[in-house]
Amino acid sequence: GSFSFDINTGIAVQEKTSTEDATEVEFTLDNGSPYPHPYQYQRIGSDGPLLLQDTHLLELFGAFDRERIPERVVHARGAGAHGYFEVTNAEFCKNYTMMDMLSEDGLKTPITIRFSTVGGESGSADEARDPRGFAVKFRTRKGILDLVMNNTPVFFIRDPAKFPHFIHTQKRHPASHLRDKDMFWDYLGSNPESLYQVMRLFSDLGTPYGFRHMNAWTGHTYRWVKDDGSWVYVKLYSETMQGVQNFTNADATAIAGSNPDFATQDLYESIQNGTFPGWTMYAQVLTPQEAENFKYNVLDLTKDWGFDDVPRTEIGKFYLTQNPDNYFAEIEQAAFSPSHAVDGWAPSADPVLQARLFSYPDTHRYRLGVNHMQIPVNSPINPVANFERDGRMNVNGNQGSRPNYLSTLNKIKLPPRAYVDETHQQWTGGAVAALSAVNEIDFDWPRRFWNSLSEQHQQNLISNVVGHLGAAPTYSVRQRMASLFYHANATLGQAIADGVSVNVTTLTFPDGPTWFNVTKDTQNSTLDY
Ligand code: HEM
Repeated sequence: GSFSFDINTGIAVQEKTSTEDATEVEFTLDNGSPYPHPYQYQRIGSDGPLLLQDTHLLELFGAFDRERIPERVVHARGAGAHGYFEVTNAEFCKNYTMMDMLSEDGLKTPITIRFSTVGGESGSADEARDPRGFAVKFRTRKGILDLVMNNTPVFFIRDPAKFPHFIHTQKRHPASHLRDKDMFWDYLGSNPESLYQVMRLFSDLGTPYGFRHMNAWTGHTYRWVKDDGSWVYVKLYSETMQGVQNFTNADATAIAGSNPDFATQDLYESIQNGTFPGWTMYAQVLTPQEAENFKYNVLDLTKDWGFDDVPRTEIGKFYLTQNPDNYFAEIEQAAFSPSHAVDGWAPSADPVLQARLFSYPDTHRYRLGVNHMQIPVNSPINPVANFERDGRMNVNGNQGSRPNYLSTLNKIKLPPRAYVDETHQQWTGGAVAALSAVNEIDFDWPRRFWNSLSEQHQQNLISNVVGHLGAAPTYSVRQRMASLFYHANATLGQAIADGVSVNVTTLTFPDGPTWFNVTKDTQNSTLDY
């Protein structure tokens, strides 16, 4: 059925073509012709072969044989629900952005959220040690905005071409088809810019208590743009109203075994019981001039903006109020992309973000088909009018008889675009750079994080790493990783080295400017890779 929303209440309304109540409908073939019984099939006599004229049986298997679509290449395992976002500080937002959905206090925008783990297949345990995806689809009055976030402020990489390499190492070995600890740590040990994210992952933050008790970050720096063309750098952060809660490694491991659907069930049941999970959204803003003097490069996805570095301001709240009626239709087929942006929200020049702008719609064309934006969960609530036509599974009328070219006879309205979308050209520079190099400043956040942990959480981090890294068979892999931890903090590194039976080696990194050094080498020369 078509999937629409009551813009006033922010509640999803689903018009059903097939009713939920089975007693109200009659069993039919695909063409709607009533049919006597679902178990029926046609054969010759009581023991003979089957008949090609048995449309019912052929349709039944034809559909069943095609039930699986490609699962997401990452974040395949997930759960989701619908709800709404409500603005609480339009006055602040209007100083920086023309985004319609942030323009009035109390304005509600319908949302769909999908939570996920990253590395596992669609049937894998949802309590695995992994970052969690936190993707929010806003159906604004002026188009779809997706915030495709994670439950962490940073990421493992800042050079996009590393992503497929990194992901391969966190999935299965090409020969054994097993998760492979050598492969896992070989990558992380040889790409030191990952360290802060690795430490978060191996702290108890890596095993959140379901999906409701975690925060979300855009990670990347984006831009807020006003209609006069002025803009600022912005990061958004959402804090759980349920309180942050994590499992210890032992509990997470036990639950992953006893109930691999724990997080999915926890989300579904809490909404079903009327305990609607909520988050408060905050913004952090830096002007382009402030960014030039900021202690970290604002386009470096491995660096956070601490709240003491850049203050945060509340802008809104969001709640999940409605479970899907049909998981496949409303969650599996949901297509989130950082490229789904609205006026007032723009990407920064962060190279990882720029790569994502291509990768998501591309995978949607593969996973769901060229007309995936027509699937009810993905289509905007305002009308779409453009010159894309035809293609497989074009089901919404194909934009009717309206001209399919830019016609002078029947003119389409062009919205005023008041601003010139300038980049930060003088600062970002015009040079083509191949790969960022690691330097001393990359250990700032690992150290800040370590120092922020209580003694108990420091111990948990050490034992979580030792339990995993200790199972990597190759000495040099364990040694390089332990040495990296040691470089961040001697106590941490020594405890890990002892735990995984290696001697640490001393590493040196150049003192870097806040702008990361750029190397044209295909091999990053800081460590012996
Ligand atoms: C899912 C690519 C980095 C968050 C995906 C998918 C792809 C992808 C292909 C599957 C999408 C689908 O099938 O619908 C990439 C690439 C990255 C990158 C190429 C870097 C070069 C990130 C980062 C974040 C992130 C930095 C968070 C800040 C997510 C989330 C999902 C996802 C939350 C799941 C969306 C859903 O629930 O449908 N990514 N990703 N990714 N990614 Fe990324």
